[in-house]
Amino acid sequence: MKKAIVTGGQSGLGEACVSRLRDQGITVVTLDLAPGADYTVDVSDSASVNEAVAAIGPVDILINSAGIVGPNKPLWEITDAEWQKTFSVNANGVFNLCRAVIPGMKDKGWGRIVNMASIAGKEGNPNLSAYSASKAAVIGLTKSLGKELAETGILVNAIAPAVIETPMNASNTPEMLSYMISKIPMGRLGQAHEVAALVSWLASEECSFSTGAVYDISGGRATY
Ligand SMILES: NC(=O)c1ccc[n+]([C@@H]2O[C@H](COP(=O)([O-])OP(=O)(O)OC[C@H]3O[C@@H](n4cnc5c(N)ncnc54)[C@H](O)[C@@H]3O)[C@@H](O)[C@H]2O)c1
Repeated sequence: MKKAIVTGGQSGLGEACVSRLRDQGITVVTLDLAPGADYTVDVSDSASVNEAVAAIGPVDILINSAGIVGPNKPLWEITDAEWQKTFSVNANGVFNLCRAVIPGMKDKGWGRIVNMASIAGKEGNPNLSAYSASKAAVIGLTKSLGKELAETGILVNAIAPAVIETPMNASNTPEMLSYMISKIPMGRLGQAHEVAALVSWLASEECSFSTGAVYDISGGRATY
C-alpha cells in the first residue's frame, strides 16, 4: 500500500487531495499547523519537518499544498517580515519537505512529488508580489528537481491553479475576486475536487513520462 504526505491537508486543496488519495486506498499523513493534523508542523521550520518525516518513515507520494497568500498590497508597502514569511512558508516549505522525503523515495526507486504553485507564479498578480514571486520559486524548484531526479523513478511536477473556491480566498475583497474571475475565460472559480483529480493523476503510476512540468488548471486563463 502506498503512503503519502500531504502538507496543508486540513483545508482547501490539500484536504480535497487527502480525500481523493484515501479513496484510492493510499495511506495519507497530514502535516499542517491547523488543528486535527496528524503532525502539527510548520513547514517553514526545517527541524520540525525533518523530525516529522523521520517519524513517518519513507513515503511514496508528497503533495506540497501548505501555503499562504501573504501581503495584499503594493510591493513598496511590504515589510521585511511579510516578505520573508511568505517565502518561508511557500518556497522554503516546499524545499524542506522535498529534501526530507527524497532519500526515502530514492531507496524505493519510486516517488511522486506534486507542488502547488499558482498561475500567479507564471503571470504575477498585482498587489500579490510576495505570493507571485514565491510561487515562481516553486516552479523553478520543480523544474530543477525534476531534472535532478529524472532517472530515479521519482517524478516532480507542479500545478498552476487559477483562483479556486477554498478558505484561502474567503478573505479576498470582492474587487480582488472579480478581478481574478474576469481573467478566467470559463468565467467561474475552480473547485477543489477538480484540482484533486489532476493531483491524484500526477501522484499515480499512470503519470510516467512527465517531470519538471507545470500543469495548468486555470479555466483557460494560462496562455503558456
Ligand atoms: N485556492 C486557490 O485559489 C489557489 C490557487 C493557486 C494556488 N493555490 C495554492 O494551493 C495551496 C493550497 O491552497 P488552499 O486554497 O487549499 O489554501 P487553504 O488556506 O485553504 O489551506 C492551506 C493550508 O495550509 C496550512 N498552512 C499554512 N501555513 C502553514 C505552515 N507554515 N505550515 C503548515 N501548514 C500551513 C493551513 O493551516 C491550511 O490548512 C497553497 O499553496 C496555495 O498557494 C491556491
